[in-house]
Amino acid sequence: MNRREFFAVGTAGAATLFSARGFAALSAAPAASPSIPPLLFGVDYYPDQTPEHLWEEDAAAMAAAGVTNVRIAEFAWGLMEPSEGAYDFRWLDRAVAILHAHNIGCILGTPSAAPPPWLSQKYPEVLMVNEHGVTLAPGTRRFTCPTNTTYRRLSVNIATEMAKHFASTPGIIGWQIDNELTLGDSARCYCRSCREGFQQWLRKRYPSLDAINQTWGTVFWSNTYTDFSQIPVPLPSGAPPNPGFALDYYRYQSDANASFLEEQLTVLRRLCPQHFITTNNAGLVDNLNLRDLYRNLDFASADNYPSFFAIILADSGASLPPEAIAALTSLGHDTARGLKDGKPFFIMEEQSGKSGQPFFSPQPEPGQLRLWSYQAVAHGAFGINYFRWDTAVFGAEEYWHGLLRHDRSHSPGFDEIVQTMRELKSLGPEALHAPYDAQLGLILDLSSDWALTFQPGQPKLKYLSELTSWYGSLAATGRGVDILEGTEDLSRYKAIFAPLLYVVSAQQAERIRAYVQGGGLFFAGFRLGVKDERSRIVETPLPGLLRDVMGVELYDYQPIYAETQNVKFTGALAAADAPVHLWADILIPKEADVLATYTGGANPGKAAITANSFGKGKAFYLGAHLEGPELARVLLTLLASHNVPRAFEAPAGVEISSRNANGNRWTYFLNHNSEPQTVPLKESYQDAFDSSAVSGTLTLPAYGVRVLKSKARG
Ligand code: GAL
Ligand code: ZN
Repeated sequence: MNRREFFAVGTAGAATLFSARGFAALSAAPAASPSIPPLLFGVDYYPDQTPEHLWEEDAAAMAAAGVTNVRIAEFAWGLMEPSEGAYDFRWLDRAVAILHAHNIGCILGTPSAAPPPWLSQKYPEVLMVNEHGVTLAPGTRRFTCPTNTTYRRLSVNIATEMAKHFASTPGIIGWQIDNELTLGDSARCYCRSCREGFQQWLRKRYPSLDAINQTWGTVFWSNTYTDFSQIPVPLPSGAPPNPGFALDYYRYQSDANASFLEEQLTVLRRLCPQHFITTNNAGLVDNLNLRDLYRNLDFASADNYPSFFAIILADSGASLPPEAIAALTSLGHDTARGLKDGKPFFIMEEQSGKSGQPFFSPQPEPGQLRLWSYQAVAHGAFGINYFRWDTAVFGAEEYWHGLLRHDRSHSPGFDEIVQTMRELKSLGPEALHAPYDAQLGLILDLSSDWALTFQPGQPKLKYLSELTSWYGSLAATGRGVDILEGTEDLSRYKAIFAPLLYVVSAQQAERIRAYVQGGGLFFAGFRLGVKDERSRIVETPLPGLLRDVMGVELYDYQPIYAETQNVKFTGALAAADAPVHLWADILIPKEADVLATYTGGANPGKAAITANSFGKGKAFYLGAHLEGPELARVLLTLLASHNVPRAFEAPAGVEISSRNANGNRWTYFLNHNSEPQTVPLKESYQDAFDSSAVSGTLTLPAYGVRVLKSKARG
């Protein structure tokens, strides 16, 4: 999935902080300078694209704007290594020194996302082969193979030389490895090196070739392999690939990218132990297991461009309410926070104006840049860098607008960003490092996502769309959502949600069973437990391993093409019938109670939604695909009737979330609407900035934000 598809899919569906690394360097400013607080608020800066006589002016203006750090050099390989093995960091030394003189710390990017022309000319084998078998041309970025040994060697070399050179340079505080791994036009490589790498990867994961044949079922269409060297990669063939083989290939490519990053990480850790190390990704990337990527990094970093959705919407003719767009952005933040099990994350790139490559978004409305920054902090960000300081006058992103315009005057958003940085810094480290308060857990399972990519069943069924639709419903509770794998201890959540959990591992099934047994509320969507983690369809009645927990068996499952079926709700859910789109799991209750039945279609009267008491808890099966508003009604009604009502009666488009630390609670009220909104408050608060008392009702201006402080609930 490329960047555009990523946004498109998301859009469709919406209908103890890190170690102290790096901060020593940041506060080790020359004695004459004021000490810099350990807060990262800054910009992405490109001295490599800016005439040197402007650097001093830039640094002075950044310092005046309150910038504490920049991220630099992540695409400057050609300037740092103009020919193979000849390194030149003099220009970067000068840039870093100027910034440091203004108390601005630097996060250095390793440049492997953009290899220079000498490299691809001399070593054409580094070029990626995309999923159509086409070798990518150089000349842009992200066109290389993650397993190619030459590309890896040269990437590690430049990272090593940078690390040696900058290990004790004053002002260097940390590193970003590469840039947005896999988020190019092609996310996976299918070259010869990757094919050999895949064969090696399989040797390590399976006891024998025979085990591979058995697991994938290669007897089908006479694909039994008699030698590892015969195993191909899923390039176009005469028919769709074997699903088990394709799933393993996606896993392998994910591992390949993670190990590519690890090679650079090992060197940076050894040479620069005092610096923090991260990488950056758009919030919700599903090409790659981001948890693996971040496992040994100090914190997660997300890139956030909320108004990108406007471009996609304009293109598709769709329209989404403000709360749906806000939810897409928040889901990205919650995903980023989940990558390090809830630790606060950094925004490495935050939209600062009109943004896009061939097309660009509108200028954010006055107040939106501030709102989006608070939204990130509300969901657990500890700092923000705005993309980018200036606006390039050349290159593929010459319309990706920064804080300065092309003529270097202030952009329309400049003052708002400066004000926002000042405000957020004054919130202080305790608030910015506070853990996010999430009472609900949503399972994002990459095996299910990938397996459904090969076989969605119904062409319009998309894992991420369904996930965002569920997330949008849950966001309205104001109770906070953690994005989970389903393999963690779930007991601290009031409810767990699993849309399209098509592949269920034994470990996930155990966790979910123990959770419900212990008193948890579990909500599953259709297609639950169809496959095991090896991609084999289970040989028991569905939902496979979770049959006992759900108290149902499937009578049948059906893709829906003609919408002739409705769902009829009963009991607590009673309301007008709702149409069934895309998919219907037809349920036979074994122990479960029926909350809705199908009408019309082939299975009138059969169960569509069920509730099962299991142990001390309850498990709900939503067999029918419902559109966003119906889904939200069902989930919110069931939660409310099980002691989990909405935390606030907030109007649509007003987002509320909290962070707690040391008995203090900061609640963020964010109005994503273009009209003022009022929220009834259930408790008394103090304004987090001026300590004034706030109770009764809270009125938020258009795109307005308030941060209110109270005592944390037990
Ligand atoms: C980011 C990327 C940056 C820049 C920006 C605007 O996702 O990391 O390098 O391309 O988008 O496109
Ligand atoms: Zn490759």
